[in-house]
This record gives sequence, structure tokens and C-alpha cells, in this order.
Amino acid sequence: MQDIVRQLTEKRAAAELGGGPQRIAAQHAKGKLTARERIELLLDPGTFEEWDMFVEHRCVDFGMDRQSIPGDGVVTGYGTINGRVMFVFSQDFTVLGGSLSEAHAEKICKIMDHAMKVGAPVIGLNDSGGARIQEGVASLAGYAEVFQRNVLASGVVPQISLIMGPCAGGAVYSPAMTDFIFMVKDSSYMFVTGPDVVKTVTHETVTAEELGGAVTHATRSGVADRAFEDDGEALLMLRRFINYLPANNREPPPYRPTPDPASRCEPSLDTLVPDSPTKPYDIKELILKIVDDTDFFELQPEHARNIVVGFARMEGHPVGVVANQPMVLAGCLDIKSSIKAARFVRFCDCFNIPIITLVDVPGFLPGTAQEYGGIIKHGAKLLYAYAEATVPKITLITRKAYGGAYDVMASKHLRGDVNLAWPSAEIAVMGPKGAVEIIFRKELGDEAKIAELTEEYRHKFANPFIAGRRGFIDDVITPRDTRQRVCRSLAMLRTKKLENPWRKHGNIPL
Ligand code: HXC
Repeated sequence: MQDIVRQLTEKRAAAELGGGPQRIAAQHAKGKLTARERIELLLDPGTFEEWDMFVEHRCVDFGMDRQSIPGDGVVTGYGTINGRVMFVFSQDFTVLGGSLSEAHAEKICKIMDHAMKVGAPVIGLNDSGGARIQEGVASLAGYAEVFQRNVLASGVVPQISLIMGPCAGGAVYSPAMTDFIFMVKDSSYMFVTGPDVVKTVTHETVTAEELGGAVTHATRSGVADRAFEDDGEALLMLRRFINYLPANNREPPPYRPTPDPASRCEPSLDTLVPDSPTKPYDIKELILKIVDDTDFFELQPEHARNIVVGFARMEGHPVGVVANQPMVLAGCLDIKSSIKAARFVRFCDCFNIPIITLVDVPGFLPGTAQEYGGIIKHGAKLLYAYAEATVPKITLITRKAYGGAYDVMASKHLRGDVNLAWPSAEIAVMGPKGAVEIIFRKELGDEAKIAELTEEYRHKFANPFIAGRRGFIDDVITPRDTRQRVCRSLAMLRTKKLENPWRKHGNIPL
């Protein structure tokens, strides 16, 4: 028996070495941790239960029969983060570049299937050269098996991808179908075709970092939700992030007690909105002042900055926050911000996370670039997402809520549960100046008259009371009381029940 146990220990030690000390050293030299080191940092100490450590590939072509390493380039299993069960796969670049073989894919599929059965999140740590070239179509089939599971798990359990190395070709589509993508700066990249192919086809010269690095995707493309400095930071932030999410779509998001009283008053909010309607202010100041412990986990902070989205807690319960940002493009909705917010709203709705919407929006961004880019369809995504959402929806209009954008931003008419406004709110079809220039076109040129009419319009419409009179706004509140009012509304809504009519699935404008 002792002999067998010794053999087991040896086998385990061999598997744990992955591609061997030299390749581990090369991995470290690139500033990257190994697959196992990453899992250790991600999960609570000593909780990782590894599966399929002894799985090997079945390929015999191109000398592969002489190159078999137990585990086959991916470490899989489950463990806990802050006591909650998570399924994890971590690709091991030291074994054949973390490339995906049929067996490698089967290991990933196994933990995904289990995650679905028990209702627990799936976290993928991606670091792979893509399809195992020697295996050909078997490897492509493996990818498709993973894709299929990504889709079936969507909206059932949270799926999070952390890109910690190469992720290229069709391989990018598995992370793309997960709920969130985080990347590591300078060591990870994602693209459908790499710089060499780009050069051949379009004659553009571009580095891998420029084409698909963490900064590119966190700023320009919006593919990544956050870019972190190194493996350590990324894994620790992922631990923090997962605390906002429920284990599955049938559970409430996790409660965490807070010393921050719901009744906390913030007098400084009374002067947050400047007197001049054209002067910007930072909506993040409002977010930080109303949420628990000034703790806000922002997503895509550098992409489509005219809208702010992220998670926070109110009285210990996770909430999703969506807020127009007057500091960028005056808070207008455009293509990128509509897509960014729509996806976030849909995630919250899938996973029982109430949505707080802070509105200061002068409308949709005008221009040919927007129209040719399809703002009609993209803007409709946000409208659709809010309208179909059945989670508690609380809306606060701080200043402008003009035109279609008023309707879109979780208005009463889209089943907003509690719609509040500050006294500074202006709810109208458009801003006073634009409105007067259209309805009093004949007076144009008479500056004094236009100014007088603008003032009259502002006085009449640019306030929250007309909407209040119709019940479109439930109450006009003193800014300093915002936290308390929102917390009370959320507490009241905790037992909310609302279902959409039966259908196979809706047809969101894609
Ligand atoms: C088999 C691979 C591999 C792959 C890397 N390796 N990628 N083996 N299949 N796809 C092996 C290398 O041969 C090498 O083995 C080891 O992994 C490390 O690779 P290096 O090239 O030495 O590392 P590095 O210089 O860091 O470059 C990493 C890399 C490069 C940029 C990822 O390896 C590369 O370009 N690989 C091919 C990428 C690719 O074209 N993949 C297919 C994409 S298409 P040794 O033994 O020398 O250490 C795809 C389709 C998916 O994935 C479709 C889904 C629908």
C-alpha cells in the first residue's frame, strides 16, 4: 500500500510541475504566474479540489505520442472564495503553450457542467496559444463544446474570464460569451487575427499590444471590463468582484453587513448640481456619497465614459448602478454608452441585482457618425434592456432628462418602481434653448425675445413638478436625503415579484 501511495505522490508531483522548471521560469520571467499559482491566489487557502489531474491527450500525430503531460495544459476543479463555491479552470501555458486539445476542452466542459448542476459561478483563467494545432478538427470541436456550454450557462450562473496571456483566433469567443472579461496589462492580448495576418491583409503595422492588449480593450473596444497591472492585482480584484454576484440566477446576491447607516445624510449633495445648467459635475461623487462605505466597483471605467456602470451595496445588499456622466459628452447617450449600459442592465436583471439609475442626460448624441453607426439600433438596446428588466428599478433624476433619453433611462413608463427627482431636475422634450428655437422660429434674431421665451420655457417645463403632477415622478427629494430614500425604496422592493409574458426569448435589437 505504501508503495502505491508513494507512486501517487510522485504522479501528482509530476503533474504539478506542468511543463517543467524551465518553462515555469520562462513564465515567471514574463511577469506571469503559473496556472496553479494563480488558482492559489484566487481561492481561499487550501480549498482547491483539483479534478482530472491525470487526463492526457490522445493525439499521436506529429510526434505527440512522445509529448504527453498529465493534466494536458489546464488545471480544473473547484474551491471557495470567501466561503462560496466557485468552479475554476486555469490554462497552463507551460504545457504546449496552454493550447486546447480535445482532452483539455473536456476538462473545461466537465467543470462547466458541474457548475450548472450545483449553481455556482465559473471562472476561467485564460493563457493559451489557442487550438492545439496538432489535433486539427478535434481541437475545434473542443472549442465548440465550450462555446455551447457558455451559451447554456449564460444567465444561469455567472461566468467570468480573466485573460492572463494570449487569447487569439476563435478562442476569443469563449470569453466573449462570458459575463465579464478582465485583462492583465502588458501580458495578455485578445484578437481574432494577430498582427502578422493584419499586416498581410490590410497592410497595417500594429503590435500585439496595440491590436489587442488590455489597454486597447479596456478603452477603445470595450471588450474588457477592466485592465489590471499584474496577475496578483487581477486575481485579488476578481476575489473582490465576485462578492457582488449571486451564485446563480435563483439566489439573491450575497448580503454583507455594513456599519454605514442607511439614514446617513449627505449635506454636500445639496450643492452638487451647479447653478448653470451647462456646467458639468462628477456623477461619481454622487455614487460614492450614497453607496455603502464609498465602495464602488466600476466596470469599463475608461470606455464610453459618458455612462458609468458598476456594482455597489446599499444597506449591505448588492446593487448595479448606471449613471450618466455630465463630465463626458455632457452625459449624452451614444452608441458605445448604450451598448455598455444595456449589457450591464441585462446582467443585473439575469442575476437578481436591483438597478439604481442616476439620470442627467441631455439626449442622444447627434451626428452622422452616430446615425451611420446605427445609434437607432444600439440606443434601442438600452431601451429594451431597461424595459424587459424585472428586478427592482430605482431612478433618480438629478438634472436633465430630455427627450427619448428620458424615456430610456429607467423611466416610470418602463416599469421604474421608484422614480425620484432632485429639485434641480429638468424633464422635458428638449432643453429650453433648443425648444424655443423650434417653436418660436419666427422670433429668431430678436435676442431679447428669445431670451425671454427661453426663460419662460425653463420656468414652465425645466423642473420636476410637471412630471410629478402626473405621477411620473414619485417624489421630489432633498439631495442630502438621497441615500436614505433609496435604501428605503430598496428595502420595500425586496419582495418584488414581476414576470414578463411567456416566450421562447425576446428579440433584442442586435
Ligand atoms: C500547439 C502550441 C500552440 C498551439 C503554442 N504552442 N501554441 N502548440 N498548438 N496552438 C507551443 C509552442 O510550440 C511552444 O512549444 C510552446 O507552446 C510555447 O510557445 P512559444 O511560441 O514558444 O511561446 P511565445 O513565444 O510566448 O508565443 C506564444 C504564441 C505562439 C504567440 C501563442 O506560440 C503562437 O503564435 N502560437 C500559435 C497561435 C495560433 O495560431 N493558434 C491557433 C489559433 S486559431 P515548445 O515545445 O517549443 O515549448 C484557434 C482557433 C480556435 O485557436 C477556433 C475556435 C473556433
